[in-house]
Amino acid sequence: MEKQVLNVVDSRSNNRYEFAIEKGAIRASDLRQIRCGAEDFGLMSYDPAFLNTASCRSAITFIDGDKGILRYRGYPIEQLAEKCTFLEVAYLILHGELPTELQLKNFVAGVTEHTMLHEKTKNFLEGFNHDAHPMGMFISTVAALSTVYADARKVLDPESRELQIRRLIGKVPTIAAYAYRHSLGYPYIYPDNDLSYTENFMNMLWRMVEPKYRANPVVARALDILFILHADHEQNCSANVMRAVGSSQADPFVCTAAAAAALSGPLHGGANEEVLKMLDEIGSKDNVRGYVEKIKAGHGKLMGFGHRIYKNYDPRARIIKWAADQVFVATGRNPKLDIALELEKIALEDEYFIKRKLYPNVDFYSGIIYQALGFKPEMFTVLFAIPRTVGWLAQWQEMLEDPEQKIARPRQIYTGYDAREFVPIEKRAVRAVASR
Ligand code: ACO
Repeated sequence: MEKQVLNVVDSRSNNRYEFAIEKGAIRASDLRQIRCGAEDFGLMSYDPAFLNTASCRSAITFIDGDKGILRYRGYPIEQLAEKCTFLEVAYLILHGELPTELQLKNFVAGVTEHTMLHEKTKNFLEGFNHDAHPMGMFISTVAALSTVYADARKVLDPESRELQIRRLIGKVPTIAAYAYRHSLGYPYIYPDNDLSYTENFMNMLWRMVEPKYRANPVVARALDILFILHADHEQNCSANVMRAVGSSQADPFVCTAAAAAALSGPLHGGANEEVLKMLDEIGSKDNVRGYVEKIKAGHGKLMGFGHRIYKNYDPRARIIKWAADQVFVATGRNPKLDIALELEKIALEDEYFIKRKLYPNVDFYSGIIYQALGFKPEMFTVLFAIPRTVGWLAQWQEMLEDPEQKIARPRQIYTGYDAREFVPIEKRAVRAVASR
């Protein structure tokens, strides 16, 4: 193929430059050649919030936001959700290929072996207030695991990485379930390694006095599907945090805690919690139109709507809608679904949302399922964090193995004062603080 180049003329100097285009991108550091004199640092690109900057090359997840396509390692999300278990998809995301029966068996055994939490870590959880937010408990406890597994610092050792990955995937449901039971004041339930990944999670969440927990297969499958849908989503806010923190070679437990912290915000994974609050605030189908008008007038955002990448229906939202119907057979219909459906219908017909290409995202319907299963909204983002741990770890691993990656360190455009003389305290006047 003919070499693709970008020709640039700098109007300041009339100098001409040629930059190679590779896979639809130029290298931002090539711009540094563009200088006006020897003292000039060179041209930078300014891109707050990474609107048009690729921070890595990745072979994990593909999204076509305009067409509403999501694939893990090339496989369409719809097929994976229909045909795989969550751990099968986790293997695919982490290793790049679907596992054979034997590979899957070994992987499942490897993860299952690590479902227990150290008793000291369990005690650590007991220190939280009864009304502590489960996401805060989750983040802190994942970070605390770094104190238990000192070997996790060997991040350049592939064998050690593999072990920490299995540990983390094995332990996050246990931490999540303990956080849940802590907030209810129930005793913790130890993992049952006879059960599948999701069934065991349900066991740790909901087992009471029965000697053996029997998971409802419809609910277990729906949770498995939800986990598959949430497993990775390329360079989103939390994946970017995972890579950035991991680039300093911090251990994967603190990296995962940092990524989970990013997920907890209401503009990211915390949106599922906000959706339920919003549906509560709307109250009934009749109030939907008025609520949408308020949003259009600039009073807040429609939570669970819009996406940086999807400018079409989020394919995960479509599958979640389907899964909701399956769950409601087992749990009874969540009346909030009617409000959500009405909201979606009105928004999708409205010029404001059409023009801005705002569609329901993954968080719009997931909370409705979680609520039908008996979870309080505070727990929703923790349920997101369990499967997303797989994606974070795959992104982390890929970053560490990429010879082009270095410690993440963006540039800034300095807008503050030039050098100025120090003022002794007795001579200082109150001044407005210049922020930019
Ligand atoms: N409701 C109403 N208006 C919206 C919404 C929304 N949910 N989302 C975006 N808009 C509007 C913006 O006000 C803006 O309008 P303007 O052009 O008149 O100023 C326009 O659409 C573009 O929005 P941006 O904020 O520039 O889009 P961005 O890509 O930065 O934000 C985001 C994406 C954060 C997801 C945003 O759509 C949002 O806040 N949605 C609600 C929160 C949410 O559901 N987050 C979950 C995302 S999925 C996930 O992280 C798992």
